[in-house]
Amino acid sequence: MDTAHRPDRPQIGVGGFEISQRAKDLVAEVLDSGRITSGPMMANFEKEFSRLHDSRYALMTNSGTSCLQVALAALKEMHGWEDGDEVLVPAVTFVATSNVVMYNGLRPVFVDVDPDYFTIDPNLIEERITERTRAIMPVHLSGLPCDMDPIMKIASHHALRIIEDSAETMFARYKGRTVGSFGDIGCFSTYAAHIITTGVGGICTTSDPDLLVLLKSLVNHGRDSIYIRMDDDQKSDNVFEIANRRFSFIRLGHSFRATEMEAALGLAELEQHEQSIRRRQELARRLTEGLSDLDTMLQLPKIRPECDHTFMFYPIVIRDEGGNRDDIIRYLEENRIETRYLLPLINQPIYRQLFGNLDSEYPVAARLNERAFYIGCHPAISNSDNEYVIEQFHTFFEETG
Ligand SMILES: Cc1ncc(COP(=O)(O)O)c(C=O)c1O
Repeated sequence: MDTAHRPDRPQIGVGGFEISQRAKDLVAEVLDSGRITSGPMMANFEKEFSRLHDSRYALMTNSGTSCLQVALAALKEMHGWEDGDEVLVPAVTFVATSNVVMYNGLRPVFVDVDPDYFTIDPNLIEERITERTRAIMPVHLSGLPCDMDPIMKIASHHALRIIEDSAETMFARYKGRTVGSFGDIGCFSTYAAHIITTGVGGICTTSDPDLLVLLKSLVNHGRDSIYIRMDDDQKSDNVFEIANRRFSFIRLGHSFRATEMEAALGLAELEQHEQSIRRRQELARRLTEGLSDLDTMLQLPKIRPECDHTFMFYPIVIRDEGGNRDDIIRYLEENRIETRYLLPLINQPIYRQLFGNLDSEYPVAARLNERAFYIGCHPAISNSDNEYVIEQFHTFFEETG
């Protein structure tokens, strides 16, 4: 389609957000407060986030990737893992999940995903476990929790740690319990287009106080945990001991801190999360209903029984009868509906270079890499936008017939 025929309408993006008046007020409060790094706003955000995710603690960082990086580093230190030890990672995820494994000197070992839900397939985990396996990283994809019961059982049987990559999924429950509360550490992203956004940012959850100490230190250059935040020296009678240790670095850490402005945005978004999740679910329900007559051509997202799906986006797989993915993606994009491939990992140029062609070992991932994509499903999408999306899918299949 030449640009002259492109519909004159705003694009329906895969992500979108609206900054509420409350968020603006909280950011203004920060700017007037004289405190722009980890202060009371962040403490409130962390407290509220941990409460909503059934965890004792939360720690804000500057990205979801930073959370994953320090989560692995903390567990590696705590449990004495060696370089070259292995971590199981789903074969469909964002590259960051397995990049951080390598950045921690560990080796990612991929596990294929479930063809219906696109999350790590618990039936395929045990065959990938070796003497060097130390952890599993289940990824709660696009708002849907993994099938956690069998994963936790395998982890406990083989004494493996669990890091939940929940970058795309907040608030969702599996059998009544929220994501981020099953494993040793849960890692969330608040990057633009995520379930709640702070621009850039991340937050990890844990219920283990020793892990929290390690995580805080790793996010703060490896500092002695006696002094992590600016007002930690106000909390003790022994100010000399703090003065003595506050510039002491006891491990190799990172500069992964976030700001009070980001925490203010996060706090405002947390306050309205129920409404926003309801809207995502409503949009997804309508898409599934409106597209269900095309189900010989399109595989639509299923919701695992006993789970919530909080729909960070809406994943679709083109069945063989639906033709090839390029045609529909071209049509949707030309008609102002933005798309993204569904998190291809093993076929990324850098992964092909590092691991070779793994397609025959991971047939479900290989198929999704060829045939899956997602579209937006967020509160900035109006009902009429959503109807337009449904209509465009129908027009495409009528035209290609
Ligand atoms: C599954 C998954 N893990 C990790 C990340 C990384 O999060 P961030 O972009 O905040 O570093 C993302 C980001 O989209 C993701 O989708």
